[in-house]
Amino acid sequence: MSKEDGGGSGARTLKTFVRTARKRSHASTLWLERQLNDPYVARAKREGYRSRAAYKLMEMDERCRLFKPGQRIVDLGAAPGGWSQVAASRVKAAEGKGQIVAVDLLEMVPVPGVDFSVKDFNDPDAPDFIKAKLNGGADGVISDMAANATGHRATDHLRIVALAELAADFAAEILKPGGFFVAKVLQGGTEGELLARLKRDFATVRHLKPAASRPDSAELYVLATGFRAKRD
Ligand SMILES: C[S@@+](CC[C@H](N)C(=O)[O-])C[C@H]1O[C@@H](n2cnc3c(N)ncnc32)[C@H](O)[C@@H]1O
Repeated sequence: MSKEDGGGSGARTLKTFVRTARKRSHASTLWLERQLNDPYVARAKREGYRSRAAYKLMEMDERCRLFKPGQRIVDLGAAPGGWSQVAASRVKAAEGKGQIVAVDLLEMVPVPGVDFSVKDFNDPDAPDFIKAKLNGGADGVISDMAANATGHRATDHLRIVALAELAADFAAEILKPGGFFVAKVLQGGTEGELLARLKRDFATVRHLKPAASRPDSAELYVLATGFRAKRD
């Protein structure tokens, strides 16, 4: 199957069980078991993607036709690089077209055609730092940023929505007319001010739960397309 094929999940039939090791907690045993039995993890390994998350962005692109060769894209929360790989391939960045500027709190192995920096997007200078790297306005801002889960549902929700709001502020500053914005949110959707702002700034706003997003997770993505114009 080709690297760009978004279909089929490559299901595995034999379940792998993990023995509880003395130094491994029950939670990490369950996590490891889930990774070993996850068809998207197996497929990402087989097809050379850094993360199972790559399939989420592929599906969103296939459903909403986001990427085109030559576009300038900003990838927020990029590590380990699955979304950067998909974006770089679709804008043809490695062939000298378009531009991908990516940041994350964590280091990542370079992706061909991607200009990556370790940067906390919460830093007040992060927007200017990224703008300085871009050769003009962006066609798309994609954010898969997620702070480490605390396990406290309300806190995790607030932290993810806060990152999505920051990303939306930045998108409104940097997007060219017609540009798009994708951000991770949690079920319950994108609420209040963020949703109202996206509806005002973009022609179309929708929520998507890609097949590769674990059904037991509250994760959801907001997709806004057709950026109208710069806000004041
Ligand atoms: C789900 S992972 C992203 C996976 C990535 N889209 C991929 O396909 O490989 C979420 C990332 O958000 C990053 N992150 C969380 N908070 C951040 C922040 N304030 N600034 C930059 N990155 C952040 C994390 O370090 C983590 O690597």
